[in-house]
Amino acid sequence: MVGVDTSGPWRDRLAEYLRSQLGGDRVAAFVIEGPGGDITACAIGLVHQGLPGPDHAGIFGQVQTVVTGWPFRRRGYGRAVTYALVEWLTDQGCTLLTLTASDVGAPLYASLGFTPSPRTMRLVLRPFHRA
Ligand SMILES: CC(C)(COP(=O)(O)OP(=O)(O)OC[C@H]1O[C@@H](n2cnc3c(N)ncnc32)[C@H](O)[C@@H]1OP(=O)(O)O)[C@@H](O)C(=O)NCCC(=O)NCCS
Repeated sequence: MVGVDTSGPWRDRLAEYLRSQLGGDRVAAFVIEGPGGDITACAIGLVHQGLPGPDHAGIFGQVQTVVTGWPFRRRGYGRAVTYALVEWLTDQGCTLLTLTASDVGAPLYASLGFTPSPRTMRLVLRPFHRA
């Protein structure tokens, strides 16, 4: 979320959503804990049901919130949590995974097989994150 004000009550909504969904078959978080029990790296993913098509089962995986804390970067943590998440999404039946890559995240995703998708478009319907 580069360039975005990340403060606001959306954090509580996110925490509530994760509490209700983690452990189910639609949302998973893979984390690496530091010595003090803090999370040093994480990758969160969601399973979405779309429309089945001729070459696609219609189950999409979305990779989100891949982060490694500053002091712990370049140790393979980001790769480990992202790889574990991709495996989990595959096990859930996903046949297509999507994400929005940051500049620093792009090499990691490319090394795991992700390719840029120039036709992707999005429409933000209303500014929401501070509501
Ligand atoms: C992207 C991020 C999660 C990588 O985490 P990490 O724990 O440092 O990643 P790893 O140590 O597993 O590195 C995996 C690969 O990513 C690439 N990479 C990681 N950091 C890089 C950097 N600063 N510059 C260039 N490539 C980098 C490399 O290809 C690396 O492979 P290597 O081990 O062969 O060098 C971390 O930099 C981060 O949290 N960035 C800020 C948040 C962000 O942009 N997240 C991605 C959102 S899409």
